[in-house]
Amino acid sequence: MQVITFGSSPLLSSRLAKALEAELIGIERKKFPDGEIYVRIEGKPEEVVVVQNTYPNEELIACLIGLQALKSEGAREVTLIIPYYGYGRQDRKFLPGEGVSAEALAKALSIYADRVILIDPHKDYLKDFFDVECQVIHADEALVEMLFPKQVDFVASPDVGSVERAKRVARALGVPYFSFEKKRISATEVEMRPTEKLDLEGKSVGIVDDVISTGGTMIKAAEICLSMGASEVYAACIHEIFARNALYRMHMAGISEVMATDTIEGPASRSSVSGIIAKKLKGL
Ligand code: R5P
Repeated sequence: MQVITFGSSPLLSSRLAKALEAELIGIERKKFPDGEIYVRIEGKPEEVVVVQNTYPNEELIACLIGLQALKSEGAREVTLIIPYYGYGRQDRKFLPGEGVSAEALAKALSIYADRVILIDPHKDYLKDFFDVECQVIHADEALVEMLFPKQVDFVASPDVGSVERAKRVARALGVPYFSFEKKRISATEVEMRPTEKLDLEGKSVGIVDDVISTGGTMIKAAEICLSMGASEVYAACIHEIFARNALYRMHMAGISEVMATDTIEGPASRSSVSGIIAKKLKGL
């Protein structure tokens, strides 16, 4: 087995190669003067595990070009691990005429990949858009690993979509969970309220979500917890996008620490999903 990334995941791919005791294949990647991307595979691909995000745009393009290169170089089997499935949030038509990006990408990637694994996609049903076998992994273990040393009193879900995740993480940590009801006003503004009566006085709360983008969701949830007397609020997510200065704004809002995995390698990456992926690939 060989492991490769086309650029988005240098740390995660090397951690995965180590966990699998697999060869790490190198690439050459550069830009043409007009900004177009060039990818060349180094070495002879056979049974390959690709670790590559479809976000931001350039990584998506590199993914398609790299996959085409693998196939044309004669790779026997290509397993595409997409740590962060970018464009997954437009997963249906909200207005007539809209394109469904989650489906468009899945169809395009299915041309070259023999099998796909998504880590905590926006919705699990995105796997059904692929024309090849696609499986979903939930990286709950990573959230538990990050929150365990913080000894939180509660785990919270900032919206309905993350309730099951919060329940699983809370159960693993042996603490109660609660959730918020969230109404999105705009891309940056959300309205929120807890779904039950709570006593958070002097308690610490770990809020868990799949993704932090602008940070608006986490900030609102944290502000409510702090206004209810919480002593500390931690924000733990799988994917750190951190658009619009999100990290800074979350700290300014009083969040003690923002933690993420290495699905998107960045300033808050605290825990690696490499072990979780390796277990899946080994069929454990
Ligand atoms: C929403 O469904 C997601 O689970 C996240 O809560 C959301 O995408 C986070 O976005 P932001 O950080 O911009 O509030």
